[in-house]
Amino acid sequence: TIAGLKAAEVLDSRGRPTLAVTLRLPDGRQVRAGVPSGASTGSREAVELRDGDPHRYGGKGVLRAVANVNEEIENLVAGRRFVDLAAVDRALIQADGTATKARLGANAIVGVSMAAARAFAVLADEPLWRYLTPAGVLPRLPVPHFNVVNGGMHAPNRLDFQEFMIAPRGAPSLAEAVRAGAEVYAALRGQLSGKGFATGLGDEGGFAPEIEAPEDVLSMLVEAITDAGYEPGPHGVAIALDPAASEFYRDGRYHVAGERLTTDDMIARYEAMVERFPVWSIEDGLAESDWDGWVRLTERLQGRVQLVGDDLLVTNPDIVADAIARKAGNAALIKVNQVGTVTETLETMRRCRAAGWAQMVSHRSGETEDAFIADLAVGSGCGQLKTGAPARGERVAKYNRLIEIEAAGNLPYGPRRAGGDL
Ligand code: PGA
Ligand code: ZN
Repeated sequence: TIAGLKAAEVLDSRGRPTLAVTLRLPDGRQVRAGVPSGASTGSREAVELRDGDPHRYGGKGVLRAVANVNEEIENLVAGRRFVDLAAVDRALIQADGTATKARLGANAIVGVSMAAARAFAVLADEPLWRYLTPAGVLPRLPVPHFNVVNGGMHAPNRLDFQEFMIAPRGAPSLAEAVRAGAEVYAALRGQLSGKGFATGLGDEGGFAPEIEAPEDVLSMLVEAITDAGYEPGPHGVAIALDPAASEFYRDGRYHVAGERLTTDDMIARYEAMVERFPVWSIEDGLAESDWDGWVRLTERLQGRVQLVGDDLLVTNPDIVADAIARKAGNAALIKVNQVGTVTETLETMRRCRAAGWAQMVSHRSGETEDAFIADLAVGSGCGQLKTGAPARGERVAKYNRLIEIEAAGNLPYGPRRAGGDL
């Protein structure tokens, strides 16, 4: 039973309002959840409720979502018996009554859902990651994907690609993977300042240098990995990209570093990158509206690189099922607030597993100190987590939680070796 709920309007890592939700159990114990928020959002994501009052936070206030938690949702759940998290989430979805969670707000609903998951873990007297482990799945510590260079919507530079990540796939443990991430990040800072680039940071804690061509960033990453004493590649530190291509797709062309590329030009460009650099994963390589392009991209690069749908799939179980059937991509990015409840997120992950698709659990560019996704990545056993640079409190909170989980138990570290995962 849930005794009570209390939401507050707090700040996210970009200084914009978001929700913190506190859930009270009948015995007085409390659990909390912080709600993340994206900037380069997919058009089919569950809808955040923002006040739209231009006199507060430029219209981005969340007082109506806060009131929905404190009044309508509290009335709905307080004192009622729920057998499990799925029952809570079902009640929330039903009460909202829209397909996009727009009435109560996906930000309100996901905060309650995350807090409820924590409440069930507390009641079962187990860590959150164990509560989130589905039957038949082996939990494991994921390969952290550190976003060390930021562009696109996350930085004010000329770089069109949004994220350049380093993934210590060959590390012997999670703690050593975090160390590799931090050492490469430090080496990269040295490289950038040595070449006269500014080392200011973007929204996810990566550097935001005035570099235009993605290949130039990739060359620098390979140098930084080598400088830090690691081997660039699948057995050492590999590279992952999130171009977030929907953001530079206009009038049927991909606008990259001053060029206007067709879908097939763009695919050829990725193929060349994969041949020249140790890129193991590409997320949103093409736009969310370019489904035919995604099918061709998958035909062309499947087996050589992981192709992750983020804006394309928005963690939605039905859209993921459609992509699996159409062979558009071979992996899904997993963001709890894109679909709006933990239960639907777990269902999306279940469908991926059943189809041999890989999954990468992910933060949002606007984050709080809540490390929920670290537990989700471990419990789901998916083997991959991206949560920004190895710097800035809201990002390192997740990596530090993984270190704590590793220290507390003996879980395996590393990529999951199954269909779809390389
Ligand atoms: P967002 O970016 O949180 O701004 O959507 C993250 C991503 O595209 O993966
Ligand atoms: Zn993305």
